[in-house]
Amino acid sequence: MSARVLDGTRLADEIRRDLAVEVAQLVAGGVQPGLAVVIVGEDPASKVYVASKGKACLEAGMHSETIRLPVETTEADLLATVDRLNADPRIHGFLVQLPLPKHINSERVLLRINPTKDVDGFHPMNVGRLSVGDQTAFRPATPFGVQQMLIRSGIDTKGMHAVIVGRSNIVGKPMASLLVQDTPGGNCTVTICHSRSRDLPAITRLADLLVVAIGKPEFVTADMVKPGAVVIDVGINRVTDPAAAKGYRIVGDVAYAPVAEVASAITPVPGGVGKMTIAMLLMNTVQAARQARGS
Ligand code: GUN
Repeated sequence: MSARVLDGTRLADEIRRDLAVEVAQLVAGGVQPGLAVVIVGEDPASKVYVASKGKACLEAGMHSETIRLPVETTEADLLATVDRLNADPRIHGFLVQLPLPKHINSERVLLRINPTKDVDGFHPMNVGRLSVGDQTAFRPATPFGVQQMLIRSGIDTKGMHAVIVGRSNIVGKPMASLLVQDTPGGNCTVTICHSRSRDLPAITRLADLLVVAIGKPEFVTADMVKPGAVVIDVGINRVTDPAAAKGYRIVGDVAYAPVAEVASAITPVPGGVGKMTIAMLLMNTVQAARQARGS
């Protein structure tokens, strides 16, 4: 079998085009959705993500601010920046890019963000709202993007056994919350497994839908996948490759070519889930702007 490739680039472009129309309508009504991104330090991957978020925002016609703070920024200074953004009427949503430098307590920072502006969906208030199925909660962008890919690709998840590999607060846990709900792109039986799970391949082989977010290059091999499963690869890993122009290449958490022989559908890396994440962040910002004006 050769799997159908789920094209994140095409789907994300489609969503961003639709959002640009919605943004234009909001602007005509006097509200320009605004997103701010705060980055502390010089983490190279974070810098790339943050630049892409700002660019996508402008392309959709939204207001965008990027706040770059030096690595030695104190927690008190970062909290003051959060307070300022909480009070800024031009900013409907904002996020503090993770990971933060070690001397800053991320939990305290996330708790300080006004939940109505928490477009990452990481504040415990939004985590709780999402888990009880409140449609006004912000859904974390990466798992929200995975769910939208499934819906927009016509994959009916109802009754599927979804196995999620990885239990992070950013992907694994909110992915489980979304897939278990009684909504389109939900109604799954959900198993979360992780690095300490006993006999992981035996669990992943039970999956009709396998979502992998473990951060280990090409971790999932063909023998771990049930024939006909839908495989979603959330990983973005750099591996050295002397044959590549840059000396490295990007691979996912799934061994793509052999798994594509077994699966019925698969997301590529790059060009899969990663493209969806930014589109969903923009969608959350539009949601924040709408909710702020009460519509
Ligand atoms: N670091 C990696 N992914 C994310 C994300 O979705 N939001 C934030 N704030 N930081 C991240």
